[in-house]
Amino acid sequence: MADTNQQPTRRNFLGSTAQLGAGAAMLGSLALPRSVHAAGTDVLKVGLVGCGGRGTGAALDALSADGQAVLVAVADTFPDKAAEALNLLRGEKSVADRVQVTPEHIFTGFDGYKNVVDSCDVVLLATPPHFRPEHFAYVVDQGKHCFIEKPIAVDAPGIKSVMESSRKAKEKNIAVVSGLCWRYDHKVREMMRQILEEKQIGDIIAIESSYNTGLLWYRPEKPSWSQMELQIRNWLYHTWLSGDHIMEQAIHSLDKTAWLLGDISPTQATSLAGRQQRVDPMYGNVYDHFAVSYEYPTGQRVYFTCRQQDGCSMRTDETVLGTDGQAEILRGDIFARDGKRKWRFKGEQPSMYRVEHEEMFASIRKGEPINNGDYMCNSTAIALMGRMAGYTGQTVTWDQLMNSTERLGPTEYAWGDVPTETVAIPGKTTLV
Ligand SMILES: NC(=O)c1ccc[n+]([C@@H]2O[C@H](COP(=O)([O-])OP(=O)(O)OC[C@H]3O[C@@H](n4cnc5c(N)ncnc54)[C@H](O)[C@@H]3O)[C@@H](O)[C@H]2O)c1
Repeated sequence: MADTNQQPTRRNFLGSTAQLGAGAAMLGSLALPRSVHAAGTDVLKVGLVGCGGRGTGAALDALSADGQAVLVAVADTFPDKAAEALNLLRGEKSVADRVQVTPEHIFTGFDGYKNVVDSCDVVLLATPPHFRPEHFAYVVDQGKHCFIEKPIAVDAPGIKSVMESSRKAKEKNIAVVSGLCWRYDHKVREMMRQILEEKQIGDIIAIESSYNTGLLWYRPEKPSWSQMELQIRNWLYHTWLSGDHIMEQAIHSLDKTAWLLGDISPTQATSLAGRQQRVDPMYGNVYDHFAVSYEYPTGQRVYFTCRQQDGCSMRTDETVLGTDGQAEILRGDIFARDGKRKWRFKGEQPSMYRVEHEEMFASIRKGEPINNGDYMCNSTAIALMGRMAGYTGQTVTWDQLMNSTERLGPTEYAWGDVPTETVAIPGKTTLV
């Protein structure tokens, strides 16, 4: 595991990898190791870790984004998931000839990821987030480029590990492209430009943000499954695996608010949260709603809600309130203070999932690999702050968050029983 001894404060958090980049630049370009795959036409061997819905989609995006990308290895805890993903990919005419995974390169179990990393140049990490810090540390140690799904961890030790790995990735000049996909969406990028550069709404005062959806999938238990298998198959509902839905899903919204506020970190967060519809033990220990108020050192505020409940309103968007007007990010609308529309997005909107892979491969081939390490760690920490404030009922400061030693989940993975989990009770659950 990466060294996690350094205790980042709110102020040095974002500067950490950037400072390192500046230092390396001062040594001159010769000091930066060239990317192994800077040449334009080399075959890039791709490996997939986590063969579920997103992993399969990411593999398709990778192969579609770069005509010289070839899928050579896959890993999943379960053989049926690896087989399912390969069947789907082999059925995609446009990429089928570049799905070149031999039976010896299909890996299963908890350690299969190492074999995938060892076999390829570009790794796609798409397991449940709990495993990300360990997997990412290995990817970076082996010097491989990485597409890393969100969130990047479920607890503070995990975030610090990923920060350290991202820093090392910068040193090694390898790509780290985050699955926080709205950063690659043309409409959202243009909205950010209109707000942050063109100052269409003046200065930002506050943001109201919500990610409200219905209930999600559940994979019914089979008699042959151990408790560990049941939890990993239904990872969404176990905080140690998913980080809860504020981290797993609603991070997309918090990431947009972080971007709007310059990717700085909040000073503190207060939350009201719980579970009302998902009370059955089959839903593990996650909540189904959070409302969080984030305070920023600039005086700006983010008022945030997320909900996974059926039969309720499903709004998902950010309303940005400025001194001269307001913007609706996903709607692509900007209004003056009198309510009249000032500007509306009318451009092309290609798939953001495809764009992130196109930009990743182009950056690798150019020898100037993208590194999204800073913001993916900051946004994950912001989501974790909201969860900690919700679970404990306390106002949680950035320093408390970053000094948290709580590491979720077992320290060793094996098929069998799992430690008993409890549902947090605000006012009783303590900050660790
Ligand atoms: N960027 C996005 O818009 C987006 C959308 C969906 C999911 N995601 C993220 O992608 C990740 C995967 O989500 P999903 O919807 O594909 O879930 P999924 O359940 O469909 O797939 C996860 C896969 O990982 C496998 N797995 C679990 N533990 C593993 C381990 N230790 N080693 C190898 N394989 C392991 C599972 O068996 C499963 O096949 C999550 O982090 C999720 O938040 C991102």
